[in-house]
Amino acid sequence: LNNKAVELGDGKDKKGQRVKVYGRIHELRVQKTTTFITLKDGYGYLSCLLPAGDLTRNYDALTFAIETALVVYGEMRAVPEGASAPDNRELHVDYFKVLGRAPSDLDAITNRVSMLQDPWDAQMLDNRHLVLRGENASAVMKLREFVELAFIDTYREMEFRKVSPPAMVQTQVEGGSTLFKYDYYGEEAYLTQSSQLYLETVMQSLGNVYCIEKSFRAEKSLTRRHLSEYTHVEAELDFIDFNDLLDHIEEIISRVVDKVLADETMKAYIERLNPNFQRPTRPFLRMRYSEAIDWLNAQDPPILNEEGNPHVFGDDIAEAAERKMTDIINRPILLTHFPVEIKAFYMKKDPEDPRVTESVDVLMPGVGEIVGGSMRMDDYDELIEAYKKNGIPHEPYYWYTDQRKYGSSPHGGYGLGLERFLAWLANQHTVRTCSLYPRFMGRCKP
Ligand code: 4AD
Ligand code: MG
Repeated sequence: LNNKAVELGDGKDKKGQRVKVYGRIHELRVQKTTTFITLKDGYGYLSCLLPAGDLTRNYDALTFAIETALVVYGEMRAVPEGASAPDNRELHVDYFKVLGRAPSDLDAITNRVSMLQDPWDAQMLDNRHLVLRGENASAVMKLREFVELAFIDTYREMEFRKVSPPAMVQTQVEGGSTLFKYDYYGEEAYLTQSSQLYLETVMQSLGNVYCIEKSFRAEKSLTRRHLSEYTHVEAELDFIDFNDLLDHIEEIISRVVDKVLADETMKAYIERLNPNFQRPTRPFLRMRYSEAIDWLNAQDPPILNEEGNPHVFGDDIAEAAERKMTDIINRPILLTHFPVEIKAFYMKKDPEDPRVTESVDVLMPGVGEIVGGSMRMDDYDELIEAYKKNGIPHEPYYWYTDQRKYGSSPHGGYGLGLERFLAWLANQHTVRTCSLYPRFMGRCKP
């Protein structure tokens, strides 16, 4: 007897041996002579065969239900010709013990839940801790881990340095309306909306920098792609121009996708969750905001703005219009040169057309915006002017402004929403299923 737990998913050398395996019942099929069980342990799946005779005599076996925790003993054998099982092996069980019973009401919540079921369903959200046990929900989480590590690997290859800026701050980045305020020892403070401003202050000492931290937005609408707490992949590049920034963004997205597809397990998840996925072809389509406005108006019928009118220069391209456009074009778009008025205070103006900024959003089919970035205003006086124009008191930003005082440089960066990237990659209807425990207006549990 092998007294150590066998790691599911690594049985090749264990074939033909008697082993002991811990797991939970993932699938259960009771037949006349045999009960078939698929066990899972978070690493993999294992088919187990139990002779029916044992079951009818054993009370524990009669209470088998999915999610029941078990330890099983038996002989590991290769599956017979023509049959199929995970890793081509099955355990012929001769003894088992129930470690933790489960009631038989979980089927609908775990295994049978596919990403196609309603992600707005309050029962699903209340039971997120159980939904996560399902095959699709857990596959998305495994993919998420891999993607996060693939970003880290790629940044390391590119010699970017990882930092951890604070989450508790006293400055806004992306507008006052989505700030989470709280009391910080009697002072007003916020949960950070983005680590960008801090990244801009450390590239002088550390070189190109990045972080993967939480960002917080008090979003007051319920959409498919807005969370109030999300994971933000942000980077800041020193001594670059706008084209360098665009090239870099395209490069890092492509490399991360390549790493995912180069991994057998991850590739299998993508094939299951997103069978029509195609590696984006390079170069990505580059389109100016003004061209997008023309494109929207040129559709038949035209894609209208939020007021129901044709788009005019200066309009925000709202979520619905943006997604329609991206879905029709059906490939990644680097949308650039947004008007000054609809973009954040820190964005650098295009030297050739001061009405617009050197800004970029990356749009993906099915999701729309997954990245927002820009060149940063690097002139001291211009920045002071921008605070004024945007009604932002400049004092709390002294540390940010100082960057323009002590050896300013042309630089830029971007933020990528990890959940949105995953929604695109894993074909999820909403970012909610790309977050372990999603937070949005009206939901702060489990
Ligand atoms: O476009 P945003 O607001 O840009 C910034 O925060 C910049 N300061 C980032 C930077 O340049 N370092 O946000 C960047 C990305 C969006 O494109 C989107 O993918 C994601 O963050 N994001 C959200 N994801 C989920 N829920 C929300 N409420 C999000 N808000 C933004
Ligand atoms: Mg944005």
